[in-house]
Amino acid sequence: MRFTILILLCIFLLFSTQTLCTTTLEQDFKEAPKYYNSQTCKNIESSHHSNHTCSNSAVHVAMTLDVSYIRGSMAAILSILQHTSCPENIVFHFITSASVSILNRTINNSFPYLKYQIYPFNDGPVAGLISTSIRSALDTPLNYARTYLADLLPLCITKIVYLDSDLILVDDIAILFATPLRSTTILAAPEYCNANFSNYFTPSFWSNPSLSLTFANRERKACYFNTGVMVIDLQRWRKGEYTTMIREWMELQKRMRIYELGSLPPFLLVFAGRITPVDHRWNQHGLGGDNFRGLCRDLHPGPVSLLHWSGKGKPWARLDGNRACPLDALWAPYDLLKTRFALEV
Ligand SMILES: *[C@@H]1O[C@H](CO)[C@@H](O)[C@H](O)[C@H]1NC(C)=O
Ligand SMILES: *[C@@H]1O[C@H](CO)[C@@H](O)[C@H](O)[C@H]1NC(C)=O
Ligand SMILES: *[C@@H]1O[C@H](CO)[C@@H](O)[C@H](O)[C@H]1NC(C)=O
Ligand SMILES: *[C@@H]1O[C@H](CO)[C@@H](O)[C@H](O)[C@H]1NC(C)=O
Repeated sequence: MRFTILILLCIFLLFSTQTLCTTTLEQDFKEAPKYYNSQTCKNIESSHHSNHTCSNSAVHVAMTLDVSYIRGSMAAILSILQHTSCPENIVFHFITSASVSILNRTINNSFPYLKYQIYPFNDGPVAGLISTSIRSALDTPLNYARTYLADLLPLCITKIVYLDSDLILVDDIAILFATPLRSTTILAAPEYCNANFSNYFTPSFWSNPSLSLTFANRERKACYFNTGVMVIDLQRWRKGEYTTMIREWMELQKRMRIYELGSLPPFLLVFAGRITPVDHRWNQHGLGGDNFRGLCRDLHPGPVSLLHWSGKGKPWARLDGNRACPLDALWAPYDLLKTRFALEV
């Protein structure tokens, strides 16, 4: 009996890894056009370093790259280049933990002019810190890479915009990057004080007096913010050793369950009530619906600079499955995937 189950399990594993491997190779992307700086842009190449990685007049953007979200990442990159006045001044910092050469080739083929650097992320240490959440996609170690940016990127990079892979920009990222951080804050992000903050932590967290006091003496009211769009002062982060603080909360979570979501709650524990708020237009989040079913969602009222399909439903999957939500049509123009039966011209 046990033996049969083992065999079945092996067959299943074989089958699933094989489908994973073939989908990797079948995703073929188009080449994006070259985008040029407008005349008012500073020329970052005129600085004496030919290497842009450290340019202090560049706009630095960090994202993760992995095989399952690469289609989203490609669309995000394209949308950034299309809506900025100085596309040649954007330097991308990609964090990857696997399939580095395939992903590098994919980026290089579609964006031959892109200024970027790839950083390998060793997901072993963080894997041991992850406790299962309500949605398995949130439990991949790469989802935690945002916690380690200050350690992964070279010291010369002092400020970065971190972006998830399931979003597109429809405004100039240089505006977001230029957000001035108030003197005591480490990061800037849109915050949502109407969301019921209690729900992000478990009853055992709130009923423990020493834990629930965590949010007591914050400069401002502790509010929810989404970690998919953040402007981070890496210098202050490094100085305050915030990676360690977040890791300590993750270690506690392994011992007693204090929250249900993935990488978000430790950020809230450390930073909520201590961030520089950014206009909501820079993270119109939740378009992927909830974490269970991924139903269609509408935009929040107000202007839009960034659309974010956080939640279970991703626009590429819904478009492929012919069950697109109305707003998924806004993502489609940035899709670089070659359609399999399209005629080559
Ligand atoms: C650019 O400089 C950074 C930091 O000094 C270094 O890590 C990186 O390898 C360099 N990149 C290239 C392409 O030379
Ligand atoms: C990147 O693309 C250029 C041509 O666009 C090619 O010469 C180069 O070999 C590519 N590099 C990789 C690692 O694929
Ligand atoms: C990615 O490809 C570029 C060439 O296009 C190469 O210079 C670079 O070293 C590659 N990075 C990694 C991490 O493989
Ligand atoms: C927030 O949620 C908690 C627990 O679900 C509930 O007890 C509390 O009344 C809610 N607060 C508000 C302001 O709705």
